Amino acid sequence: MASSSAGAPDANARGWDVLADAYQREVGWPDDALTWGLRCPPEEDLRLVTDLVTGATTVVVGCGGGQDLLALARMGAGRLVGVDPSARQLAHARRRLDEAGVEATLVRADAEALHEVPDGAADLVVSVQALNYLEDVDGGMAEAWRVLRPGGHLVFSVMHPADAVTDDAPPYGFRRSWFEVASDWVWDGLAEEDVAFRSWFRSASDWFTACRRAGFDVERLLEPAPADDRRWIERGWLDEDGYAKLDRVPATIAVRARRPVDGAGPT
Ligand SMILES: C[S@@+](CC[C@H](N)C(=O)[O-])C[C@H]1O[C@@H](n2cnc3c(N)ncnc32)[C@H](O)[C@@H]1O
Repeated sequence: MASSSAGAPDANARGWDVLADAYQREVGWPDDALTWGLRCPPEEDLRLVTDLVTGATTVVVGCGGGQDLLALARMGAGRLVGVDPSARQLAHARRRLDEAGVEATLVRADAEALHEVPDGAADLVVSVQALNYLEDVDGGMAEAWRVLRPGGHLVFSVMHPADAVTDDAPPYGFRRSWFEVASDWVWDGLAEEDVAFRSWFRSASDWFTACRRAGFDVERLLEPAPADDRRWIERGWLDEDGYAKLDRVPATIAVRARRPVDGAGPT
């Protein structure tokens, strides 16, 4: 991956359409267990959703190729809805779920406009490594709040800005300012053409504040230390330098927030 001045928010879904086939074939996200981030400790240790998932009507925002839906189904989730703006990613999700015999409704939509999901329909909204693509974070939070029932939970993970702003090779210097939240970058060398993206790498305090602004109670906010798991190298996600970097900086922010039973919505 390389930095670039190319990219625009509305180009992200098209970018994922271009990338999807190669991404799912060459790297893909683990589907054997719910996986929150690179070198992230397993859900059985973090326990962000384990006590919430049984029978829960669950919406996965930015469901990509369906790995997270499949993992949640295996954990005992109830009705599943996957939302993603990339038609090609959703096609991979459909194939993966059909092969596994897992039922899920798939909806092509942005996190900021979950049109087809009714108010209060969900017990649980999950998002794994997708909310970095949101410019309008308040819009995304407001939609999660809307589709959750009172007392329901939003649980999500994003890439940590400490990983995003630093080089992937020693001496792991800063390549841009910590405070530069928006980042244009190119995923090169994976698909037949290079793909430009724009991402927003917000800090843990930014995510906490965004959740609070939307009316959520933040129950847990994690910046986990890395697990020793060399499958990230074997799968091609990290080289040795990138793996060693994550001994120094967190790769992931994970948040568990609850829509209060009586709370007001976004302000
Ligand atoms: C890194 S994947 C996450 C899926 C899966 N956890 C994985 O890692 O493969 C990012 C996904 O976010 C989706 N995405 C991009 N912009 C989005 C938006 N505004 N709302 C919801 N999802 C979005 C992309 O289409 C892509 O499928």
